[in-house]
Amino acid sequence: MRETMICPTPPMGWNSWNTFYDKINESLIRETADAIVESGLKDAGYEYLIIDDCWSMKERDAQGNLVPDPEKFPGGIKAAADYVHEKGLKFGIYSCCGTRTCAGYPGSFEHEFQDAAQFAEWGVDYLKYDNCSRPRSQGTEMLYRRMSMALRSTGRDIVLAACQWGTENVHRWIRSTGAHTFRSTVDIQDSWNSIETIVSSQLELQAFGSADCFNDMDMLVVGMNGGGFNPETKMGGCTEAEYQTHFALWAMMNSPLIIGCDVRELSKEAGNILMNADLIAINQDSECRSAYQVDVYESPDSFILVKPLSNNEYAVGYFNFGDSKANVTLNFWDMGLSSAAGYGMDVYDCLDHQSIGIKREYMTVQIPAHGCRIVRMKPKGMS
Ligand code: GLA
Repeated sequence: MRETMICPTPPMGWNSWNTFYDKINESLIRETADAIVESGLKDAGYEYLIIDDCWSMKERDAQGNLVPDPEKFPGGIKAAADYVHEKGLKFGIYSCCGTRTCAGYPGSFEHEFQDAAQFAEWGVDYLKYDNCSRPRSQGTEMLYRRMSMALRSTGRDIVLAACQWGTENVHRWIRSTGAHTFRSTVDIQDSWNSIETIVSSQLELQAFGSADCFNDMDMLVVGMNGGGFNPETKMGGCTEAEYQTHFALWAMMNSPLIIGCDVRELSKEAGNILMNADLIAINQDSECRSAYQVDVYESPDSFILVKPLSNNEYAVGYFNFGDSKANVTLNFWDMGLSSAAGYGMDVYDCLDHQSIGIKREYMTVQIPAHGCRIVRMKPKGMS
């Protein structure tokens, strides 16, 4: 019997789709595994290396097995998985609950148990399971239940990442299927507009994700800078401030942190954002509490998220979605601290990595357009 959860905190890793689209192969996977280790990403917590769509042949073999494309993966998927494991990382792959994947390769519909057994044999630790080409009569709930059972039946611990896109009120039932994460939105694009749209659609739904079943707001676009081969993701890129805000929101909202840029050419700026240990610690906090939202009256385009942490601290994110700078105030009253309590807040800045000191009653910050400020607060007796 397994005594621990497979996903006690949001999964962290890298996925091929945002940047590489169908241009994936064994060398890319090896080089990416090397880069995850050498860049420090592994030490920062990124552990899953996930191959997305387009890894197989367009048809199954005579026995109904999925066949890795021999041109892309001459050693098969097992060789890629073995290399990833040798690096101390975990290996993920992609399939779909319909008859075809979103890019037109064979899906796992009515092959669930056969494919799950194959994945387990190859050493797969994580399955991203998409939602295209479903036979009309099939809702996704049954199909995710089915793959969950198939994976569990292999006896191997395999994360089921349900790429459901947020239809059919997925947040209400996905946990009961046995899935460990659930994509809750359409595909992210490398643009501020896409980030803003995804976040706005999930602010009200934060409480539905928790340990062993997290709300997946899609892969990160940090570090893409408008590049890559994916015409659907490529959308001009974001500013550094926007990438920072994107990462901070994914961290505060307990989303999986799955990198989508080319980590073989990770820029210093992107590395700093992706390896911010203070933000990662917020995302990986063992209590996995969802944040609550505090409205900001001074600025209609700004909001504050407060997430209780396991060590009697609170992660506080000030966010400005407006197109000009804004002053944003958090009244500690809104966190539960009345003036009569005799407490102030000891504040630590998670972007500058330094203490700001004690604040009483409230804390106001000025935030640039599309920017953020992330701090940790700890109640401190003032007597
Ligand atoms: C869907 C998913 C994406 C990606 C593609 C692959 O669009 O939402 O994340 O996996 O399919 O075809």
